[in-house]
Amino acid sequence: VSVQADQLRLNGVDGQDAIYPLIWLRHNCPSAFHPETGERVLDLRDLPEVPALDDVEVGHDRLRLVWEGGHVSDFAMDWLMSHIPGRATSDKADNGIEVWDGSGGATSVPRFAAQPIVSEDAALLDWLRRTRAHGVSIVTDMELTKEAGIAVARRVAFLRETNFGVTFSVENKPDPTNLAYTAEALPLHTDLPNQELPPGYQFLQCIANEAEGGGSVLVDGFAVAESCRAEAPEDFQMLTRVAVPFRYFDNAFDIRAHRPIIDLHHDGRLKEISHSSHLVDVFDMDCATMTAFYPVFRRWLARLEEDRFKVELKLAGGEMMVFDNRRILHGRTSFDPSTGYRLLQGFYVDRQEWDSRIRVLSRA
Ligand SMILES: [Fe+2]
Repeated sequence: VSVQADQLRLNGVDGQDAIYPLIWLRHNCPSAFHPETGERVLDLRDLPEVPALDDVEVGHDRLRLVWEGGHVSDFAMDWLMSHIPGRATSDKADNGIEVWDGSGGATSVPRFAAQPIVSEDAALLDWLRRTRAHGVSIVTDMELTKEAGIAVARRVAFLRETNFGVTFSVENKPDPTNLAYTAEALPLHTDLPNQELPPGYQFLQCIANEAEGGGSVLVDGFAVAESCRAEAPEDFQMLTRVAVPFRYFDNAFDIRAHRPIIDLHHDGRLKEISHSSHLVDVFDMDCATMTAFYPVFRRWLARLEEDRFKVELKLAGGEMMVFDNRRILHGRTSFDPSTGYRLLQGFYVDRQEWDSRIRVLSRA
């Protein structure tokens, strides 16, 4: 251990030196956190801008710092090792993303029986992790009741309510408020990009699918976006920067948001895809941006529909498709309601609750 100016250096951690700013060490003193809730209770302004050390004691698995003025910080070495500045704090929910194209076909979509998910934590955790990585899975062997689908979702967390309710029924309805409630084909889309925070994981539970047609189409939006980044980088840049207006309105609601089609994390990784041709509102960008954006948007629409990305399947009664609605685009082929009944129930659980469940179940 050595202290230089305003930094403390631990030598030879994993073959490298770990450097901790003194202010960071003082700010993260174990005493900075409430002993019961674990929340931070220390006000940064109560510390000197440049804290100084009087003494450093290195133990077998502890590091004890005595600050000028007498305050003592007693750190577990393990904790310091897992919080080295500049290295992302490990996150059990982040087990990687497997981007896919359509070459694997419908059998590439992982399938999980419902009962173990409902009754065994290990099966629940496996399903959560694999669905998060692949973006979509199908839960099988479900009772043909709405409660059976909700029981699976409630194993993750609470449901995300929207203007369509806590759950919504996708069937051919009189006076539809939404194209999903007709028998028409639905082009590939993510649900509700018009919302300030579009819903995370979508559950589409098939109660009956006896009509001719009514197949599902799935595309990994991350695969489409990565192909755009590689093959048309200028289009990609524009799709990440131009805020597109989205809107849903009916008699009771008028919900609007502006967002780019492709949203990135600060480090450039893909964060989410937002796309619904039916909810795109009247463009309101300035003329120059709009004129440049139209051909980019047209090429994006064409890229989305390329067969190389598509997986097609037809859900049967007792199956439930679960997918990351901010990554996977879904669509449906038209169906003929005179040939049989088709009823899907839908609901959402947000991404943060999904990831939270993985972390809690992963605790040793
Ligand atoms: Fe949808």
